[in-house]
Amino acid sequence: TAPAELGNDHGYGPDIDHVLLSEEQIQAKIAELADQVAGDYAEREVLLVGVLKGAVLFMSDFARALRLPTQMEFMAVSSYGSATSSSGVVRILKDLDRDISDKHVLVIEDIIDSGLTLSWLLKNLGGRRPASLEVCALLRKPDAVKVDVPVRYVGFDIPNEFVVGYGLDYAERYRDLPYIATLKPEVYSS
Ligand code: XMP
Ligand code: MG
Repeated sequence: TAPAELGNDHGYGPDIDHVLLSEEQIQAKIAELADQVAGDYAEREVLLVGVLKGAVLFMSDFARALRLPTQMEFMAVSSYGSATSSSGVVRILKDLDRDISDKHVLVIEDIIDSGLTLSWLLKNLGGRRPASLEVCALLRKPDAVKVDVPVRYVGFDIPNEFVVGYGLDYAERYRDLPYIATLKPEVYSS
């Protein structure tokens, strides 16, 4: 796609290879997920736990689309590994600010790749005795099926390529893009 066709590209146009999911596709999916979650949780108060930093844009749009009383917490974890893959060895960089016991916790994730990060996180949060614990992930890659992590809500199953935008970064850039895209190979080698 030529830069001119990328619309609101925040100046990243020359780095972008192609748009995988447009802003419209993402927002339509969020409305769909929110309807599903609202139906499942009925009048219950949901505690959204966003995983920093990738889930920030998704969490923000999802919380507004979800017509339920909602509270928000954030957690930051780092999994040891390379810039583009994780090892499953996880470290908490920022923990939740409060107790989640007896709360209906819905973990908001940007992407599930190997599933190792999420698997660790669910074990950790599960140990804090929430009333319920489910996951809503915007994106899921094919490798995620290899690890048995229960993900109740998934936005899109995407091919096994590295993507950026809508919260997702490469070297901390591109999170601010309103859509999800792939980068040109030369961006990784420079
Ligand atoms: P695992 O493999 O543990 O890792 O499920 C999930 C985390 O890996 C990062 N990740 C990506 N980040 N574009 C990104 O910007 C991608 O295509 C991608 N795939 C995996 C991300 O931090 C996620 O939380
Ligand atoms: Mg990242």
